Amino acid sequence: MDKLLFIKIVYIVSAVLFMYGLKRMAHPRTAVRGNLYGVLGMILAVAATMWSDDVEQVSWIAGGIFGGAAIGTLLAYLIQMTAMPQLVALFNGFGGLASVIVAGAMLLLPGNQPSTSEWVATALTGIVGSVTFLGSTVAFGKLQELDLFKNPRRLPFPHVVNSMLFVALIGLSILMIYNQDMYLYVVIVLVASLLGFLLVNSIGGADMPVVIALLNSYSGLAASATGFVISNNVLIISGSLVGASGIILTRLMCQAMNRSLVNVLFGVMESGSGDDDDDVYSDVTQTAAEEVAMMLEFAQRVVIVPGYGLAVAQAQHAVQNLGQLLEEQGTTVEYAIHPVAGRMPGHMNVLLAEADVEYEKLIEMDHINPTMNTVDVAIVIGANDVVNPCSRTDKNSPIYQMPIIDVDKARAVIVIKRSLSPGFAGIPNPLFALENTSMLFGDGKQMMLEITSAMQDA
Ligand code: TAP
Repeated sequence: MDKLLFIKIVYIVSAVLFMYGLKRMAHPRTAVRGNLYGVLGMILAVAATMWSDDVEQVSWIAGGIFGGAAIGTLLAYLIQMTAMPQLVALFNGFGGLASVIVAGAMLLLPGNQPSTSEWVATALTGIVGSVTFLGSTVAFGKLQELDLFKNPRRLPFPHVVNSMLFVALIGLSILMIYNQDMYLYVVIVLVASLLGFLLVNSIGGADMPVVIALLNSYSGLAASATGFVISNNVLIISGSLVGASGIILTRLMCQAMNRSLVNVLFGVMESGSGDDDDDVYSDVTQTAAEEVAMMLEFAQRVVIVPGYGLAVAQAQHAVQNLGQLLEEQGTTVEYAIHPVAGRMPGHMNVLLAEADVEYEKLIEMDHINPTMNTVDVAIVIGANDVVNPCSRTDKNSPIYQMPIIDVDKARAVIVIKRSLSPGFAGIPNPLFALENTSMLFGDGKQMMLEITSAMQDA
């Protein structure tokens, strides 16, 4: 068989593996295997490219691949589970940077005479890749809580400045394409980097997960544009897949928060509904670990609702221990998962999986809500906004119509948190003052340990 045809077939096989892998990543049970399909697709694509006549300096490329793989593997092993969003931000940024460098290197290739469409693709790579690189670096800094990036700093008239930079980029691109001037590529990269910095720097740290999903999509689009620059089909396909899946994830996250992407990127979350904390919390019932243990002894169905505080308290193993103890006494235990509980997509799934909670017991919001009225005890641990019934009842609330887990419909609700302070949305939560709710104030892990030991002593 002709070598070129064989390489094309391998590229198609790789593309199918990427798509199949993505499909399997849609569920935690199949996600690991899905990832492996993606890895296999990438190995095939890289091997075919190395074998093609386009590649002359095989040893240099192999050095880059092995060096990069060693650094990536080391980082992935060393990183704490809680620092995963930062790592993803860095990976996106490196993806954008790699695209910028590859497209730039093509301009320097001796004898290379890019066509007009290749100049267009080069300009696009420079813009999208640089926005991704600097934007992701700022997102990393914010998530790592580096002092430099801690508080959002807004320039006066940020939208005007950003729009002017964007218009300048379009003008520079037209000039570069028209004059076939490769030095303008450097200017485009610098201006786009500034735009990436300004765009992300003005967004608050808590919105970074959405921004990272969007930048992930951009890194795919930059890679896809680079595919046009170097005429590589598998890069075009894989880049488009990353671009499309990143934008779908961004949309899902915005929907789950009932916010528009424009609001996340350019707005600030509006302050609360105006309800005074004292009015909302005039009648709060407090409880103790021993009382909760007694209540749990008689429960047949218990649902645990984790939130950001579970991650802060690192309470996942203590939660799993309590769940196991309850199951040993014949109680049905499930975990209700809200899509944006925590601070990154799948945050709760990752933490609970780390503590060996079986996937079958993690029930998504839409599936558990219709049966919440048959739950004997709902234990909310470190969750706040995602269980706030205001979203159903208060039209003035900033989280009005944000889908929530309907814990208030359970027969009894135990809320474990350290105080009555609000969550990310900054608004009071009437759940804490409902007749069927009891507050167990304290650190999530400590309280879980106390309930477990009270149950064991009983
Ligand atoms: P939040 O509403 O932020 O509430 C977390 C609660 O955890 C706080 O009220 C806090 O209360 C409690 N807490 C903190 N440390 C604790 C500890 N050591 N032990 C016990 N409790 C502790 O969290 P949520 O319910 O998970 O909601 C997520 C929020 O983040 C939503 O508003 C969502 O829109 C937003 N968001 C999520 C994402 C993604 S992708 N997940 C992206 C962007 C924005 P105390 O201080 O009183 O303890």
